[in-house]
Amino acid sequence: MINAIETKDLNFRYGNINALENINLIIPQEKFVSILGPNGSGKSTFLRILAGIIKPNSGKIKVFGQSIDEISSDLIGYVPQIKTLDRNFPAIAIELVLSGLNHRWALNSTNEQKDKANFVLEQLNAISYSKKPLNQLSGGQLQRIYLARCLVREPQLLLLDEPATGIDMICETNLNGIIQNFSKVKRTSILMVTHDWTSAYEHTEDVILLNRKLIYYGDKKNAFSNENLMQTFSHPQHHHHITFGNLSNV
Ligand SMILES: Nc1ncnc2c1ncn2[C@@H]1O[C@H](COP(=O)(O)OP(=O)(O)OP(=O)(O)O)[C@@H](O)[C@H]1O
Ligand SMILES: [Mg+2]
Repeated sequence: MINAIETKDLNFRYGNINALENINLIIPQEKFVSILGPNGSGKSTFLRILAGIIKPNSGKIKVFGQSIDEISSDLIGYVPQIKTLDRNFPAIAIELVLSGLNHRWALNSTNEQKDKANFVLEQLNAISYSKKPLNQLSGGQLQRIYLARCLVREPQLLLLDEPATGIDMICETNLNGIIQNFSKVKRTSILMVTHDWTSAYEHTEDVILLNRKLIYYGDKKNAFSNENLMQTFSHPQHHHHITFGNLSNV
């Protein structure tokens, strides 16, 4: 069986900042994997490499057995972190969703494509603002529209960078459930960055703990040991004893 993702000795630097160090990872197909780690630990960098946006300084990556340079971009869907989403694009929400299906512009969309887009928007509970201009949407609403644009393409590998950020808690649970359901029905491989340990535990199967280096990859049941959490976050379990101004790594 071909794996969804294989990385070998993957390194990435921004100038002289080491963002990722020697990442060796094998992720089988059809897994829903969460990526956890502190701010600046390389989570977004890792997704951007897998999405083919940036190239590693060294190391190898295969996605579905193919080199990242050769793989068809149709197989991979990527939704970046909310702060990087463009809301000034002069379009209404559904047009952005349709642009996921149509490399040309939404005016050329077929009825079948429109039905598909509306179906995904309904599933994401976003139909009520599908006709609004992007610049009138809230952050969380905009996030959903970008997610819809990605889901409508039915990629085989879905890369989601904090999809629940800016989404209220009740909707967040619902959103994670929708993504989980999508992964089952479409047999998609999903990597999802999140800061929410509880939803990672409830909705995903495997967990990656990242802090520049790979601390852990495997079943979620063994992920949250004190030792793993100390290595990843420098503190165990959910006790956030953060002393502001104290930079020592206790
Ligand atoms: N464009 C950039 N230029 C220079 N340094 C960068 C750039 N993007 C990220 N970095 C640095 O690389 C490291 C990893 O950043 P990255 O965005 O991957 O972290 P992250 O785990 O996604 O963090 P967060 O949880 O805050 O989103 C950080 O030290 C960050 O400051
Ligand atoms: Mg990030």
